[in-house]
Amino acid sequence: MDIIDLDEKYKETFMVCLEDWSDEMKEAGNHKHKWYNEMKNKGLGVKLAVENEKVVGMIQYLPIEYSFAEGQNLFVILCIWVHGYKEGVGNFQKRGIGKALLQAAENDVKSKGANGMVAWGLSLPFWMRAKWFKKHGYLKVDKQKMQVLLWKPFTNDAMPPKWIKQKKVPELVPGKVKVTAFINGWCPAQNIVFERAKKATKEFGDNVIFEEIHTNNREHYLEWGITDALFIDNKEMRTGPPPSYEKIKNRISKRVKRLS
Ligand SMILES: CC(C)(COP(=O)(O)OP(=O)(O)OC[C@H]1O[C@@H](n2cnc3c(N)ncnc32)[C@H](O)[C@@H]1OP(=O)(O)O)[C@@H](O)C(=O)NCCC(=O)NCCS
Repeated sequence: MDIIDLDEKYKETFMVCLEDWSDEMKEAGNHKHKWYNEMKNKGLGVKLAVENEKVVGMIQYLPIEYSFAEGQNLFVILCIWVHGYKEGVGNFQKRGIGKALLQAAENDVKSKGANGMVAWGLSLPFWMRAKWFKKHGYLKVDKQKMQVLLWKPFTNDAMPPKWIKQKKVPELVPGKVKVTAFINGWCPAQNIVFERAKKATKEFGDNVIFEEIHTNNREHYLEWGITDALFIDNKEMRTGPPPSYEKIKNRISKRVKRLS
């Protein structure tokens, strides 16, 4: 197994988070491409784990000033993922690949002179577990509901990061249902939610307004303190894992019925 920097050969596999077997991924649009094209010149790092010319793991990290946290001279891991499904390349977890990816990313940002690495994880025992980072020397610094912010300082003068908190919720529009979709672009699962919501909205004609907020634009992000989310009126809908098209449509439909 080799750890390499993202190259042209594997770019499309990276764009679908190694899930080129997944039909759902076809619904994600080109948001990750757009995000990548913007961030590749802003310090984004992507390492891939490759075995027999197949990508089996990935890690992506960027300077903290483009992330959901604030801090100085730190990098943030947006996502680490070792393919764990039986489809496609199969399950490659628990073979030390995650550890090797994390090590490679840390070495990279150290060589760039960063003061530390930041990560996020869930306090629950599934998906991206905060506990996994703790095993690798990361310390908890902040918490937001089930999400934990962790970091590993590399220097004595490193300052701990903080979450950027949500600042507001979308306002109601009298006589209409408003669907507000926040999209950053880096996460295909969230891009799927955005595309589904946009499509579902169209089924309701003039009763429903769709507002899209592109949070890779820093000004938009800082105004809201939200990276990816879906609101039907002022109620947030859970988006991880992505709700089905039908579920989103039903939620909108319930609100539309209350209009009359
Ligand atoms: C968290 C994650 C990156 C870890 O990757 P991984 O390759 O499975 O990690 P490692 O192999 O380095 O370590 C995992 C475990 O395997 C064990 N292990 C490592 N090498 C091993 C080997 N050769 N044989 C058996 N076990 C081994 C490690 O001791 C470790 O055990 P622990 O979990 O009890 O600490 C991976 O599980 C993952 O992708 N999870 C989903 C994360 C996710 O949802 N990402 C998307 C967020 S946007």
